[in-house]
Amino acid sequence: MQTVTDAAALRATIRGWRSSGQAVGFVPTMGNLHAGHHSLLKLARARADRVVASVFVNPTQFGPGEDFERYPRTLVQDQVGLAEAGCDILFAPDVATMYPFGPAASASIHLPVITDTLEGAHRPGHFDGVATVVTKLFNLVQPDFAVFGQKDFQQLKVIERMVRDLGLPVKVMSGPTLREDDGLAMSSRNQYLSATERQRAPQIHATLTQMRELFRQGHAWQALEQAAKARLERAGFVPDYVAIRRAEDLAEPAADEREGLVALVAARLGATRLIDNLPFD
Ligand code: PAF
Repeated sequence: MQTVTDAAALRATIRGWRSSGQAVGFVPTMGNLHAGHHSLLKLARARADRVVASVFVNPTQFGPGEDFERYPRTLVQDQVGLAEAGCDILFAPDVATMYPFGPAASASIHLPVITDTLEGAHRPGHFDGVATVVTKLFNLVQPDFAVFGQKDFQQLKVIERMVRDLGLPVKVMSGPTLREDDGLAMSSRNQYLSATERQRAPQIHATLTQMRELFRQGHAWQALEQAAKARLERAGFVPDYVAIRRAEDLAEPAADEREGLVALVAARLGATRLIDNLPFD
């Protein structure tokens, strides 16, 4: 596996592959890779002739006071994991490569409506940063397809919409959320949890599972949101939202809607903000 930091070198290698008809799969990441990322790599590896992964902690998707500075940066460890997972190129640019005019003076992509809710409402500007950096990465890598994790459900929907809206020639694929044995969704941010918080953290998945169970038993979705929020508060979380939405566009379902729904949670446990989701179908 080659590690490339320079955009021109990346383009030259990928141009060579593409001119010989090879399909390119892409897995964008912020590094600190775990089994969840490796499963996305595996998915890409099975479908592409060549696989590119990126590691870039993108400053424009972090708000003031968020964890940009302390986000875990583990490039050497990531290189080992990516090479083992069959990655051909690791693209690890610096901020100046991704934002030649600086992050504050960069062009920015905003997708209205779908980013006004849930994560977008609680982290203003977050999805503008994600959409912008993913577009820049797509322009540099020019992949045939890119793979995103379903754990960041709203991010996946935003990217699917962006690709369709802007007519980007990239197929968006997704891989399932990988969980620890106790149900906690794998995330680089889990390592911020203290030992006691780590024991409580699986309550998010347990709550989502209970919501889905009660929904299947015929309960109205509106009542489930309130009950789940109260359950998380009793377990020591401070929820930002507990919501049941249409999986397709994250809009609020009609009162009697029962197909194609997903439950989404964001909650703070101490200083750590965790997100998770569970499709009901
Ligand atoms: O999901 C992530 O790791 C990031 O949001 C992404 C898609 C790599 C953009 O920085």
